Amino acid sequence: MMFKVYLVFWIRLGLLLLAQAHENENEKKIGFYELKRGDMRLNLTNYGATIVSVIVPDKHGNLGDITLGYDDIEQYKNDTVYFGALVGRVANRIGHAEFTLDGHTYKLPANDHGNTLHGGFIGFGDVVWDVKSYKEDSYITFTYDSDDNEQGFPGKLTVSVSYMLIGTDKYAVKMIAKPVDKATPVNLAQHTYWNLGGHNSGDILSHEVQIFGSEIIPVDGKLIPTGKFQSVKGTPYDFLEPREVGSKIHDLPGLYDINYVINEGSNEHFRKVAIVKDNVSGRKLELWSNQPGVQFYTSGMLTSTKGKDGAIYNKYGGIALETQGFPDSVNQPNFPSQIVRPGDTYKHYMVYRFTAA
Ligand SMILES: *[C@@H]1O[C@H](CO)[C@@H](O)[C@H](O)[C@H]1NC(C)=O
Ligand SMILES: *[C@@H]1O[C@H](CO)[C@@H](O)[C@H](O)[C@H]1NC(C)=O
Ligand SMILES: *[C@@H]1O[C@H](CO)[C@@H](O)[C@H](O)[C@H]1NC(C)=O
Repeated sequence: MMFKVYLVFWIRLGLLLLAQAHENENEKKIGFYELKRGDMRLNLTNYGATIVSVIVPDKHGNLGDITLGYDDIEQYKNDTVYFGALVGRVANRIGHAEFTLDGHTYKLPANDHGNTLHGGFIGFGDVVWDVKSYKEDSYITFTYDSDDNEQGFPGKLTVSVSYMLIGTDKYAVKMIAKPVDKATPVNLAQHTYWNLGGHNSGDILSHEVQIFGSEIIPVDGKLIPTGKFQSVKGTPYDFLEPREVGSKIHDLPGLYDINYVINEGSNEHFRKVAIVKDNVSGRKLELWSNQPGVQFYTSGMLTSTKGKDGAIYNKYGGIALETQGFPDSVNQPNFPSQIVRPGDTYKHYMVYRFTAA
C-alpha cells in the first residue's frame, strides 16, 4: 500500500517536471548575437530584431559604439523610444487608430495621442523573434510570424529581417514580409539612433547632415500628415546641401520629426537617402534604400534615459533616419499604398556605409 502511494507521487512529480520542461522549451530564448568583420562589429538581439550596438573606427582608428541602446534585456523591455528596434507591422503613425480596407474598418491600439504609433502597444519591436540563421562573420536572419488580428491588423503575416555585412565598411538590412491569408498594410522600419561621436558623447547638433529629399510631408499637431507635400526650399527642413543639424533647429518647435519624400513614383528604386558626418571623430555614415520616404528624427523627446555603460541620453542625443513609406498611408489616398495582398511580397532594403577621415 505504502509503496503504491509513493509510486503515484513520483509519477506525478515526474509528469509535472516534464510538463514544465516542455513549457520552457516553448518559451523563446532571448539572446545577443555579434556580427564582425575587420573593425566593424554589430551586436544584435532577437528581442525586437534590435541593433544593440554598431562599433566602427574613427579617423585615428579608435573604435567607438555609435548607436544609443541599453545594457540588458530588462531595459529593452521597458523601452519607450524604440532604440535600435525593428518597428512594425506599420511603422510611424496611423491617424485616429483606424483604417478601412476592402470594406472592413479595423480598430487599432491608440498608443500615441489617439493615434497608432509603430504598430501599437506591442509592435514588432516588442516581441521575441526566431533566429533562423546566423553566421558570425556575415549575417543573421530573424523571423517572426504575426497572428491574424495581432494589435488589430488583418491576417497572418510572416516577416523576416536580415542584417548582412558587406565588405568591412557596410552592412545591409533586408526586410521581407508576406501576408498569408488577408490583405494588410505593411510598413517596417529600422529605428537606430546614431551619434557618430560615440553613443555617450553628448548631442548631435554639430553633426553635418545631407538629406536627398526636396519635399517633406507636413503634419498636424499630433504628427498626422495633412495629405499635402511641401517643398523644403527656404525652410529649416532644407538639407539638400550638407549643413549642421543644429544650425536652424531653433526656428522649429524644437526638433526634427518629419518624413522626407525620397522616391517619387516607383518605390522599388534603390537610391541614396542621406549622409551624416561628425568632423570631430571624422566618422561618416551614408544610407541607401528603396523606400518612398525617410523619417528624420533628432530625439527631441529624450530626457535622462539611462543607457549603455552608464550613459545618460538627453535631448538631441541621437539622429534617427528611418527609411519607410509615408506616415498614415492607409488613410491618405494620394500617398503610395502600403497594402500588401496574399501572393505579393513586401521588400525593404537598406545599406549603410561607414568611413572615417
Ligand atoms: C551585446 O550586448 C549585450 C548587452 O549590452 C552584452 O551583454 C553582450 O556582451 C554584447 N555582446 C558582445 C559580443 O559584445
Ligand atoms: C523603466 O522605465 C521607467 C520610466 O521610463 C523608469 O523610471 C524605470 O527606472 C525603468 N526601469 C528599468 C528597469 O529600466
Ligand atoms: C566642422 O566642419 C565645419 C565646416 O564643414 C566647420 O565650420 C566646423 O568648425 C568644424 N568643426 C570642427 C569641430 O572641426
